[in-house]
Amino acid sequence: ELQEQHQLMDLHRDAASFYFNCLKKRGNAGARYLAGREWSIETIKRFGLGYAPDQWDALCRYMSTKGYSNELLEKAGLAILSEKVAGNKRHYDRFRNRVMFPIFDIRGNVVAFGGRILTPEGTPKYLNSPETLLFNKRHLLYGLNIARTHLRQHTLILVEGYTDVITLHENGFQNAVATLGTSLTPEHAGLAEKTAKRVILCFDGDQAGEQAAQRSIRIFRNTEVEVKILTLPHKTDPDQYVKEKGAEAFEQLLQKAPTAVEYQISLIRRRHSLATVEGKVHFAREASDVLKQIKSMVEREAYAARVAEEIGVSKASFMEELQQGKRSFE
Ligand code: CTP
Ligand code: MN
Ligand code: MN
Ligand code: MN
Ligand code: MN
Repeated sequence: ELQEQHQLMDLHRDAASFYFNCLKKRGNAGARYLAGREWSIETIKRFGLGYAPDQWDALCRYMSTKGYSNELLEKAGLAILSEKVAGNKRHYDRFRNRVMFPIFDIRGNVVAFGGRILTPEGTPKYLNSPETLLFNKRHLLYGLNIARTHLRQHTLILVEGYTDVITLHENGFQNAVATLGTSLTPEHAGLAEKTAKRVILCFDGDQAGEQAAQRSIRIFRNTEVEVKILTLPHKTDPDQYVKEKGAEAFEQLLQKAPTAVEYQISLIRRRHSLATVEGKVHFAREASDVLKQIKSMVEREAYAARVAEEIGVSKASFMEELQQGKRSFE
């Protein structure tokens, strides 16, 4: 198995260099697409981006000249056995006419690929390698091989996608990492915990992003990581935001990002009117449910004092609600 792992790593490295070299061919569609994303040549090299040509078996043919069998390519998830011509085994490339994003493990080995379609529409937008001996997306944070040595204030920035990581890195935020289309897993949270003290969640500014933030906060509760939430304007993602507003504006959002507790309380506040007694009661009750989750007594009391002040009751009576869970405002 160890030997097969080694073979698969060599294979991925050679495949990545094939895709990268395809970007250099004159007039290829991948380079034209990447020009539109406006990343520098250095960035493209650093992330090893490439292009899978618009042919059925360009990779298979190239890799056979390097001595790799189609069966091994299939095991790597880069080739697919054609079912049409059963009997005589024909393989074709999984990735065709896509911009290629090598996925690196924590040591910087290529272990999988993501391939983006070149057109604004069309599905799937991203096609990823299947799970293999090398690649398990529950355990992998894209960009962590770089981010782990480029923390800023012991902090990781957690985003949704390849392009968010790349644009952030290019703009000096080399501590950005992404979960790849999956929601955050306990394994991801554990990886983050081993690497950093703080994680700033920065998901897309849409409904899905907000839900992902909520889910992630819950998962991080089982770690020692301090979590903050950066909320982007509606319908943008970190890549678009930084391209439109610049690194300085993004830095401001990072600085202002509320803690998980502040964020959750602000969501509750949004749902209730503090102008009525009933609204205050509901707000206090739901806020106390959030505060009960805080392990540190000092921290819990500090937030409790704020909430109490906001609804105009004494801290003592709000603490009572908190400690006994009894409905003291009813
Ligand atoms: N993703 C995926 N498969 C899809 C769609 C998305 O694996 N069919 C993953 C990719 O890793 C992608 C991330 O989820 O980067 C976030 O998805 P999305 O926000 O839709 O894509 P962007 O990263 O914003 O891509 P782009 O800017 O190129 O549109
Ligand atoms: Mn999205
Ligand atoms: Mn995007
Ligand atoms: Mn996005
Ligand atoms: Mn309510």
